[in-house]
This record gives sequence, structure tokens and C-alpha cells, in this order.
Amino acid sequence: MSAHVFVNGEWLAPADARVSVMDRGFLFGDGVYEVIPVYSRRPFRLEQHLARLQHSLDGIQLANPHRLEKWSGFVGRLAREAEWEDQSIYIQVTRGPMAVRNHAFPAQATPTVVLLAEPMQTPPAHQREQGIAVVSAADIRWLRCDLKATSLLANCLLRQMAVTAGCVETVLFRDGFLTEGSASSIFVVKDGVLLAPIKNHLMLPGITYDVILELAAGHGLPHEVRDITEAETREADELWMCSSTKEVLPIVTLDGKRVGGGTPGPAFARMYGWYQEFKNTVMRAPT
Ligand code: PDD
Repeated sequence: MSAHVFVNGEWLAPADARVSVMDRGFLFGDGVYEVIPVYSRRPFRLEQHLARLQHSLDGIQLANPHRLEKWSGFVGRLAREAEWEDQSIYIQVTRGPMAVRNHAFPAQATPTVVLLAEPMQTPPAHQREQGIAVVSAADIRWLRCDLKATSLLANCLLRQMAVTAGCVETVLFRDGFLTEGSASSIFVVKDGVLLAPIKNHLMLPGITYDVILELAAGHGLPHEVRDITEAETREADELWMCSSTKEVLPIVTLDGKRVGGGTPGPAFARMYGWYQEFKNTVMRAPT
């Protein structure tokens, strides 16, 4: 399908898709988004992604422009018709255009809705096999990191720190505690126990985070959801990052220092196996 960008009710070729420069998404980053992985043309956990979209919309006081069935229809169409079997579907909803630039909301917002599909690019095999290097930084973001807002400047600056250092991700600490990565959730393994930070306003409630905890529970890997200190993170036996597009990856150096033995650990090897099995049997399963 060449027309695989949806803009306010129209399906367009990417080159023809346009949004006004007066859009609040462009001028203020006043919008929210979702990234939905699609495997073998099946959107994964669509309901949960749409529930998180609703949470983000509620958080910015923007009425949802579409009912659940409509969203499912749009996503389903992309998943069926875009040229890739495995995709990542991006949804963005902004507070729409203004007549005059003004921070305050317009009395009557006309939200801008964009959907587009991109080919799913899972990480290269060497990142899983050899592990990845990450840096750390103070979490300089705002206090509503539970909202998947399009205003991602802090996340971009933080991710760029990793890229500049030749690394893959930046792990964030706020007030001495682990929050998450610039665009991922982070897990710690210590003495055979998987540790996950508590979902709160300081981190995005990751859909892959839920999958990792479900797999741990299902396979009897001891796990705890609790506050994790920076010191515990630095002394971890294993560190993992995960997201809808990166799946789950082992972190082998943090700020140039080895994590555990400096190679992907045994708990990661087990989790990766469970994840792949889950992906092949559940995510790709025919309906
Ligand atoms: N980001 N935390 C942050 C800050 C993120 O941006 C993401 C994902 C996650 C993981 O969430 P999930 O498992 O639901 O993908 C955690 C997406 C992929 C992005 O912004 O492109």
C-alpha cells in the first residue's frame, strides 16, 4: 500500500501527508503518541496500547477523538495493508491547530490524528549476543513521565548522550533511584532476582515491561517490583533494557564499567528464550 499515512481521516502517501505549522503539536509538543508493534500483521496488545493512549490523553486533558473500535479499525487497516509483515505502528494525537499562537488551550480543540506504519526493525543479532553499552545521566525530564507525550526533547538530549559516547541507551537516575532509559524500560538482576522499578509518574508504564514480568512469573524467575537505588543498579549482576521495538537486550557496560561479568548473563539467556517463544507462539499466533 503506498498510502500508509493517515492524517485526519485521509489515507495518503507519506510525501503527501501535511500538518499545519500552527498545529500545537508542532509549536508546543502538545500531543501524545503510541508505538504498537505488529508481528505477522497482528498488532500486539492493541487494547493495552489504546488504554495507555487514553491515559495519556486524560493526562493532557484532551478528549479522545475516536472510539476504541475506530482506533482498532485504523490500526488493523495499516497492519493488513502496509507492505511489511512486521511493523511498528505510530499513532499521534495533538491538540490541533490554533488561529494565533497561544499557550492556553483553544476553547474548541480540533485534534490532529496521524497514524503511520514503519517496518519493524528489531536490534541486530550482535547486540543480543554480545550485549550493549550504555551511559547514565540524571533524569532531567518533567514529573509526568507516565504520559507518552510527544514533547520528547529531554529524551532526545538524553539518548544523544549515549550516541555521542558510542553507546545504545542512557539509563536515568532521579534522586538516587533508577527510573528507566531515555526510550526503554530498565531491569536489574541481583543474586538471581529480577528487580523492576515501580510504575509511577516518573516512568512510562511499558507494555514490554509487563511482558517481561509476566514471563518471569510464568517461568518461576524470582522477581520484585520495588524502588531500585542507583548503587544497586551499578552493582547489578545483570542489566536489561526493553521496549516494543528493541524487545529485550542485555547491557554489559554502564559508564564504561562492566556489568556483572561484562557479558550477557544467564538470566538474560533464559528471558530471551522465553521472549522468543512467546513471540512465535503468542504474538505471531493466527487469530
Ligand atoms: N518508546 N520508557 C520510555 C521513555 C519509552 O519511550 C519507551 C518506548 C518505553 C518502553 O515502552 P513499551 O514497552 O511500551 O514500548 C519505556 C517507544 C518505543 C518510542 O518512543 O519509540
